[in-house]
Amino acid sequence: MDRLNTSKFILSIILLIVFPVFCNSENTKKIKGVFVFGSSLVDNGNNNLLITLVKANYLPYGIDFPDGPTGRWTNGKNVIDILCDHLHLPFLPPFYSPSTIGPNIAHGVDFASGGSGILDATGDIANLIGLDQQIENFVEITLPALETQFTMKSEEFLGNYMFVVGIGGNDYTNNYFFYPTNQTLQDFTNDLILALSSKLKILYNLGGRKFVLMSANPLGCYPSKRNATSCSKELNDAALLYNSQLKLLVRKFREEFHDSNLVFVNSYGIIMDIINNPPQGFENVKDACFVGKELKVCENRREYVFFDGTHPTEAVNLIVTSKAFFSNRQSEAYPMTIERLSML
Ligand SMILES: *[C@@H]1O[C@H](CO)[C@@H](O)[C@H](O)[C@H]1NC(C)=O
Ligand SMILES: *[C@@H]1O[C@H](CO)[C@@H](O)[C@H](O)[C@H]1NC(C)=O
Repeated sequence: MDRLNTSKFILSIILLIVFPVFCNSENTKKIKGVFVFGSSLVDNGNNNLLITLVKANYLPYGIDFPDGPTGRWTNGKNVIDILCDHLHLPFLPPFYSPSTIGPNIAHGVDFASGGSGILDATGDIANLIGLDQQIENFVEITLPALETQFTMKSEEFLGNYMFVVGIGGNDYTNNYFFYPTNQTLQDFTNDLILALSSKLKILYNLGGRKFVLMSANPLGCYPSKRNATSCSKELNDAALLYNSQLKLLVRKFREEFHDSNLVFVNSYGIIMDIINNPPQGFENVKDACFVGKELKVCENRREYVFFDGTHPTEAVNLIVTSKAFFSNRQSEAYPMTIERLSML
């Protein structure tokens, strides 16, 4: 090789080494922000600002969170906080906070409301914000504000945002199994999935292309629902039915809208694995770390699966989110990981 060819050769080697690294760092920046819809599992503090008794803005909620109690329904970070960590994004502001305006909405907004469901009838006595109103808040208020801020139409920028939906559990615990009904579980579940699917279509038509759908958690293993020896099979079966339909929706939606990408996160399976086969560090898979009436909180939160009677601890949220992000098992993140989704 002469000198010119040698330097060309060296240059191409350098490019081969440097370029993929460069591409990767570009990829992880593809997601500009996250919009979140759902219930308490993904609520960053909206209920603080509602006239409702369903709140988590007092200790021991947030006892391990940098800012203390914020309305998050766990001791530390919830799955949305950890997702934002992975995506190198700041924590999402709750829609109802008065400071959720201007530049504060550019990386996304959390619309979720603890206690809410897909159906308005779920939790309506508690004055919560159901999925209908959450989507309306996004469409009528946040989206026009972003279009003005970016001087772009929503279709031009929403493809770079991720839409996370974590909802459904309350529709069973606080609705189907709460009010008398003659509807079959199958019919009720079909109604839920149909309603959810119509919301996804609204988001898609506005330009949304990347969706993360969280499964319902193992409702029957909640400390408030189980007994000393076993989980409620009835509730777990309901969650499983919902989850199988949700997974099917991921496939069907993609078939209908080819340029959409959806990830189904099987938080149910991930949490059941922790309960059935606790990883090192977990000592208590069935009791709540904190029981409302006693206002006594367990000392080592990392040993517990559940923080209160319903919500997982930060320790569990870390596992769920890291599997959703990196797991190579389709039984945990289907049909791809959130990391992969973020790079598309
Ligand atoms: C269920 O069906 C029975 C018999 O038709 C009827 O009497 C009852 O009111 C129904 N219950 C509800 C909650 O619709
Ligand atoms: C716990 O629940 C299971 C299933 O619901 C039931 O079969 C069992 O008798 C219960 N055990 C106790 C101690 O209540």
